[in-house]
Amino acid sequence: MLGIPDKSVPACSTCHGQHAEGTGGFPRLAGRYADYVEKQILVFWSAGLRPRGEVMKTISDNMSDRDIRAVAAFMEAFPAEAEAAASPAVDR
Ligand code: HEC
Repeated sequence: MLGIPDKSVPACSTCHGQHAEGTGGFPRLAGRYADYVEKQILVFWSAGLRPRGEVMKTISDNMSDRDIRAVAAFMEAFPAEAEAAASPAVDR
């Protein structure tokens, strides 16, 4: 995951893990349904409804609808099963 450097969207992998498998307090994204990822990003983006969502709000502020849909589709297809088995935990 490269992020979108021209729009100062940082690489998602810095926080969510190289394979989007989730690390520490950062939730796993790989394999999530596109609808779910898209909705969560919109939640961060529009209302700041999630108490720990400050970071993601800043990030998603710089993403267009198209960026969000693209990243959501990418995450759904992301094949992280092997990594997931190697490093369980943080499934939320
Ligand atoms: C600076 C660290 C950081 C970066 C970079 C980052 N995130 Fe996050 N992300 C977080 C944190 C922290 C949370 C958990 C927020 C919460 O629990 O409310 C989160 C949560 C999420 C969620 C909700 C997951 C769930 O299971 O509810 C999605 C979707 C998400 N991020 C997508 C992305 C995408 C796509 C990118 C790249 C464009 C990205 N994030 C980059 C820190 C980051």
